[in-house]
Amino acid sequence: MSRAARLEALREAGFLSEEDAALLSRDAPLLEDGTAEAMIENVVARFELPLGIGLNFVINGRDRVVPMAVEEPSIVAAVSHAANIVRQAGGFEAGADRSVMTAQIQVVGSPDPVVARERILAARQELLAQADALEPGMVRRGGGATDLEVRHLRPRGSASRYEEMLVVHVYVDTCDAMGANLINTVAEGLAERVEKLSGGRVFLRILSNLNDRRRVRASCRVPAHLLAWHGFPGDEVARAIERASVFAEQDPYRAATHNKGIMNGIDAVAIATGQDWRAIEAGAHAFAASDGTYGPLARWTLLPDGCLEGVLDMPMAVGTVGGPIRLHPVVQAMHRMLDVRGAADLACVLGSVGLAQNLAAIKALGTTGIQKGHMALHARSVAATAGALGDEVELVAAELIAAGQIKVAVATERLRALREARQPRAVGDGSA
Ligand code: MEV
Repeated sequence: MSRAARLEALREAGFLSEEDAALLSRDAPLLEDGTAEAMIENVVARFELPLGIGLNFVINGRDRVVPMAVEEPSIVAAVSHAANIVRQAGGFEAGADRSVMTAQIQVVGSPDPVVARERILAARQELLAQADALEPGMVRRGGGATDLEVRHLRPRGSASRYEEMLVVHVYVDTCDAMGANLINTVAEGLAERVEKLSGGRVFLRILSNLNDRRRVRASCRVPAHLLAWHGFPGDEVARAIERASVFAEQDPYRAATHNKGIMNGIDAVAIATGQDWRAIEAGAHAFAASDGTYGPLARWTLLPDGCLEGVLDMPMAVGTVGGPIRLHPVVQAMHRMLDVRGAADLACVLGSVGLAQNLAAIKALGTTGIQKGHMALHARSVAATAGALGDEVELVAAELIAAGQIKVAVATERLRALREARQPRAVGDGSA
């Protein structure tokens, strides 16, 4: 399909409104100068990424088309392929925790940290009420402070720079907001009282990105026969996927790459929906290492009934209000296209996309390898790098694939030949 036809298909299927389809088809910049200036400082230009659509998702029984902003070829194709397999098995099941974030307050120099800890804990109700009073809007929306803990960190090892400290955690439900600003307001707002109670001094007051109380879990169960591929029988593919999972469970070097594949999809959707993807990344990797060894965020098991089961479990701090969602017209259109029903719903989409992206990657890695498919898609960006425009991109890419040489120098040569062949012959040049 052409880009225009894709937009039309999304409109016809009811995912895009007339206005949003028109907005996305514009070639003029979509982010106004004034909006860009309002978002960050020292703006000199707008920066663009391709926006693609991940297809075939069924999540908790709902059909979803998923916006993905990303530069790497084959991510969108791969996730759509995996989602199509899972679709035939009934789709993804996903659920998200309440939006509970953690505010951290660091206290040092208490004369007796054990007593200070007890005093802060005894003031639990007072501190939670103070947190709620700082953000009354959040309480009105059904959120607010839920709990408080005080961790006592004792110096590990003998390095003189290590100090004993208390770390107060205030847990706050931020509802449909990602909540970083709300949490930082709470951390700063409680600092003075915590300092008094502790008899020490407060230093850092900031959220933690290890959002282990705000997780998403996504799962799917795929009968092995649906995994048959390129001559590989389904049960062999299922075993290869389980083996890839076990590899990641046993080896942090592999787990890092396994998780990178998961984040390929999650980051792309996070960017397209205006999320703080650095926060999601930080939470993901900290959680992956939280039992002391870095491990995979998604695991696959071949069940006795012949089904392959995939389960993803990771922190997911996302919002559907505030931040760039208020400002960026494409982000707003993408929320409408996804028909997002709050932060938990968006977390379920992101979790399912991560699981699908992981399935696509390890299915390919356990069978054909990824380079064949990857290079075929990469050929298009190589053709574009060589200067191919419009339909030249596909034509040159096809030649590179046929020649088995996905190289810019070869693309430049093929492009020159294509343009020469397309040059209209001069008529009546006197040779006849
Ligand atoms: C490439 O961007 C991602 C993969 O390396 C993920 C994986 O190895 O699972 C293919």
